[in-house]
Amino acid sequence: MDTNPPYFWPHKDLLDVTQLSIQDLQHLMNLAESFKELNQRPVKKAPTLKGKSVVLFFAENSTRTKTSFDMAAKRLSADTFALATAGSSINKGESLKDTALTLEAMNPDIIVIRHAASGAAQYLANLLDCSIVNAGDGWHAHPTQALLDCFSLYGLWGLEGFKGKTLLILGDIAHSRVARSNIRILSSLGVNLRICAPRTLLPAGVENWPVEIYSDLDKAARDVDAIMALRLQLERQQAGLLPNLAEYAKRYCLTTDHLGLARPDVKVLHPGPMNRGLEISDDVADSAYCLVLDQVNAGVAIRMAILLSLAARSKEHPNAIG
Ligand code: CP
Repeated sequence: MDTNPPYFWPHKDLLDVTQLSIQDLQHLMNLAESFKELNQRPVKKAPTLKGKSVVLFFAENSTRTKTSFDMAAKRLSADTFALATAGSSINKGESLKDTALTLEAMNPDIIVIRHAASGAAQYLANLLDCSIVNAGDGWHAHPTQALLDCFSLYGLWGLEGFKGKTLLILGDIAHSRVARSNIRILSSLGVNLRICAPRTLLPAGVENWPVEIYSDLDKAARDVDAIMALRLQLERQQAGLLPNLAEYAKRYCLTTDHLGLARPDVKVLHPGPMNRGLEISDDVADSAYCLVLDQVNAGVAIRMAILLSLAARSKEHPNAIG
């Protein structure tokens, strides 16, 4: 007899990975596995979210996150509506509050938001009754990226296999919401975390993070199981953080020499978009070690799992998957 209590998804919104229990994580991985299989079929469609409306409110640029949320929603038969800063009344000075209230007046079930301001997703979650998904807010968090990164590694390691692995995050840590969300989730899974960057690209207070800090990439790469290279976010940097890009690439661009220092089956991740030759060499980006396109593939499945979990909460049992 199964004495386990039934699992109910307990969240109205997805704002960061810190809100997720291990049961929530396992639930998302299980759902994403089934959607990964669906996504390989000739007919990639399920009727699960027919009649549901998903707004994609992207106030910052995106290729992967926006397209994969759109694809994820449509594969579950939801209707999607896109709003970007360009071409919207945000460009006439409409506030975030009025934009959000305007969108909710159209009765969407979920709003997916990307915004330059840290806390923008939390602000909408407090203001609106519909579900909010944080698709990246300032430097704060990018939970769906961290979840798809986990899902990419979950396929290789399983959830138990994360414990005791060593993963290096390399590059522009200071400006990276991807690093912050990944550090939160991976440390909770028992991964030993290293970060490597020049001092100017480490944030204030990094000494209190659950990571080992390196400035020498040869030392940082030694015996690691996985390396996550980060994009140098030049658009968010003040002038003077780096002497010059050639000098940065000389010390911090991930090359096959560095992979030779890591474990033989090392995996390389990058959230994209990549600056080839700056933080990752062509050889590494195009190698069999590199999971970048697997990450993109995993992104559609994990976002389907997230949309279903949020949209299928039944009214009778607010925490239940319907
Ligand atoms: N990783 C990521 O968020 O990519 P996009 O900016 O293209 O969505």
